[in-house]
Amino acid sequence: MAAQAQQTGVVIPDHVPPELVFDLGHITGLQFLQDPYEYYPALHEKYPPLVYDANPMMGGAWVAIKHADAFKALRSADFTIKDAAPFPRDPDNYFKLIPVEFDPPEHRKYRNILDPMLSPAAVLGLADDIRGLANQLIDEFVAKGECEFTTDFARPLPVSVFLSFMGLPLEMRDTFVEWVVSLIQFVDRSRAVQIMAEIENYLTSVIDEKRVRPDGGAISRIVHGEVDGKPLAERDVYGFVFFLFIAGIDTVYAAMNNMWVWLARHPERRREMIADPGNIDNQLEELLRVFGVTFSGRTLTRDIEMRGVQMKAGDRFMCILPAANYDPDVFPDPREVRFDRPRTPILSFTGGVHACMGGHLARLEIKIALQEWLRRIPEFSLKPGTEITYRPSGVIGPDSVPLVW
Ligand code: HEM
Repeated sequence: MAAQAQQTGVVIPDHVPPELVFDLGHITGLQFLQDPYEYYPALHEKYPPLVYDANPMMGGAWVAIKHADAFKALRSADFTIKDAAPFPRDPDNYFKLIPVEFDPPEHRKYRNILDPMLSPAAVLGLADDIRGLANQLIDEFVAKGECEFTTDFARPLPVSVFLSFMGLPLEMRDTFVEWVVSLIQFVDRSRAVQIMAEIENYLTSVIDEKRVRPDGGAISRIVHGEVDGKPLAERDVYGFVFFLFIAGIDTVYAAMNNMWVWLARHPERRREMIADPGNIDNQLEELLRVFGVTFSGRTLTRDIEMRGVQMKAGDRFMCILPAANYDPDVFPDPREVRFDRPRTPILSFTGGVHACMGGHLARLEIKIALQEWLRRIPEFSLKPGTEITYRPSGVIGPDSVPLVW
């Protein structure tokens, strides 16, 4: 296995047992790119429960695929978030991604600023607007008998919701979509730097505006928020606003893209859902389980042992959340979509202190999208000849989902 590591060019620390070193091909490998949602359950069949991934994409990291291991890492002070995201940032004018790049106890102080806007009760107040938007979007294409689901529905819905949540103008919708899509799809570095600059130009002008004209949106709340009784530093305001922008858009539409491909391919299961509308919350939770879209990277803060394996402070540790959702010890017959599974925490929105702040909003958006779509377009399928393709990306979902009805 050491040879594999040499092939990928990743340096394996001496304390890592060679028999635990693999290149899992996560994100970049052929099997992953052919069908990520067959790749994830198969990890449990092909590999030991805890391995060291020599995939150059990961840069060398322990990998948790077991639900219990991920759960432990996400809840333990033995693990910290470091270098959380690959977005290019200017070291001379650096900003932290907030709140995700803070550890407790600072982390909680920043989260407190926005948590009230994202509580279950607060997001429920957005339900009518989300339903109205979903219907407006469907109105635009329903009579045509076809659409490209991603561009016509899955992206504009969460982006529109996000804009009003943030207090940003709806006219910016297409520009926002373009920015986010380009950033997550591993565009070349110079283009990424250019997009980062465009986003920063725009968002800083909005932040300035909200300083003098506060409103009820999230940006205004951050601009006027306080930590330890003091206003946030200018770069922290920007880091918070920027991170929300990245976290709240691409994840929702990627999850929806995955779900609609499944719905299009499984007419009987779709009809089963339509026939049981009162079970929508369980249906949604099960679809979120099988279609996890992102991961939680951590770094060890001290030496520990897990599953009899010695790991050291400074080792990188990746919780592959979509794989943990297929752990057969926790979800029997994990490939089967079952709407009557007993409630066990899924890890799609991670867990512990960094549990997704937008989880309630994301669930509401997708639930309403499912309800309205299945009500208005109950019968649909993939456009004949469509091949569903995935690209290497930090958020997993097909690029395009052409549908007909
Ligand atoms: C299906 C949709 C979504 C999924 C699957 C998702 C997933 C995740 C995951 C896995 C994390 C943890 C990252 C880590 O541990 O390193 C996270 C954190 C976060 N997400 Fe989401 N997310 C979604 C939607 C949203 C939305 C709509 C928003 C905002 C409105 C949002 C805001 C955040 C924030 C602020 C954090 C950081 C929390 C913290 O560090 O305390 N997310 N999300």
